[in-house]
Amino acid sequence: MPGAGQPHIEVLFSAAEIADRLKVMAKTIVDDLGTDFLVVPILKGSFIFAADLVRALHFAGANPRVDFLSLASYGEGTVSSGQVTVLRDVESDVAGERVLLVDDILESGRTLSFAKELLAARGAAQVAASVLLDKKHKRAVPLQAEYAGFDCPDAFVIGYGMDLAHAYRALPFIGYLPDGA
Ligand code: IMP
Ligand code: MG
Repeated sequence: MPGAGQPHIEVLFSAAEIADRLKVMAKTIVDDLGTDFLVVPILKGSFIFAADLVRALHFAGANPRVDFLSLASYGEGTVSSGQVTVLRDVESDVAGERVLLVDDILESGRTLSFAKELLAARGAAQVAASVLLDKKHKRAVPLQAEYAGFDCPDAFVIGYGMDLAHAYRALPFIGYLPDGA
């Protein structure tokens, strides 16, 4: 039960549905990439997805290294600025690496295409992308994720790491505020 004073949030994907999907995704990723690769979560929205995905990858037999990239494309509202900036770079030398990018939502595609180009320009051998949610109809640049958890309806979603002005990241499920508040 939510605590007193918490708004009603419609559940889109429950914690159990997410956990089941991650097991399948992890197995597919290990089948494709093998057991040794570099996972690069794109912070901040992916932090819970990435934490669960790397453990699912472990249980699927992989032993990935993990380093973090922090990018910003949103301000504190719900509309993308269209501008992507590096807030915190990876520490790893990615030259020759197989890299698995991890992001929460693929929407316009600007964030992931920026990250893919950044790491490819540094000589990564392969840059694949895994996203939890795919808003397929919102693309501004042509890009597909190699691994996607769920198709996402055109709503502003929160929870499981995803925020509205840094709130709601702690929800164990993915949902939305029914009145759009
Ligand atoms: P893109 O660059 O337009 O593909 O946007 C992707 C980024 O925007 C994601 O990594 C999220 O951080 C953020 N984002 C897009 N849609 C939502 C949403 O519905 N809720 C929370 N964050 C979102
Ligand atoms: Mg993000």
